[in-house]
Amino acid sequence: MKNSIDLNIKNKYKILFVCLGNICRSPAAEAVFNHKLEEKKLTQYFFVDSAGTYGGHSGELPDRRMRLAAEKRGYTLTHHSRKITFSDFENFDLIVVMDNYNYDDVCFLAPTIEAKNKVCKMASFLEKSDFTYIPDPYYEGSEGFELVLNLLDESCENLLKHLKNKHVLILK
Ligand code: 4NP
Repeated sequence: MKNSIDLNIKNKYKILFVCLGNICRSPAAEAVFNHKLEEKKLTQYFFVDSAGTYGGHSGELPDRRMRLAAEKRGYTLTHHSRKITFSDFENFDLIVVMDNYNYDDVCFLAPTIEAKNKVCKMASFLEKSDFTYIPDPYYEGSEGFELVLNLLDESCENLLKHLKNKHVLILK
């Protein structure tokens, strides 16, 4: 797990966002969720990270198109791509995947039933939008990146509401 907060994350609720390459959707989800935490002064209660099921972009910054689209909305994407590991299943409380392929791949990797139960779909937190997954924008034009950011805005807001309703912050 990354950076210096590591030493101090025992009591935080830990969320890992996962997509395929960890250069478009999941680092954007990480940034959008962190932004909402900052707005609501909840940053201290969470540890947020992202990873990919495919390691071909490991070490890279997010895709330039996603960084530019995100920057226009006030999100700075600084994550470096990494592949999901077995220890992530132990270290994180919740693993939120972007599409059904990610869901199958991550569930397949889960070492235990408890680990598998930590996996959920980002689109399950959409209410207004009809999407059942967060579509991969990698081979799309700029509208694909805007759509992803719109869907992440809605789903991150609802995910945070859901966690507050579940009182995860008090339970931890
Ligand atoms: P992501 O998008 O899963 O949202 O990061 C993709 C990034 C890279 C590739 C596919 C999707 N790729 O084929 O390299």
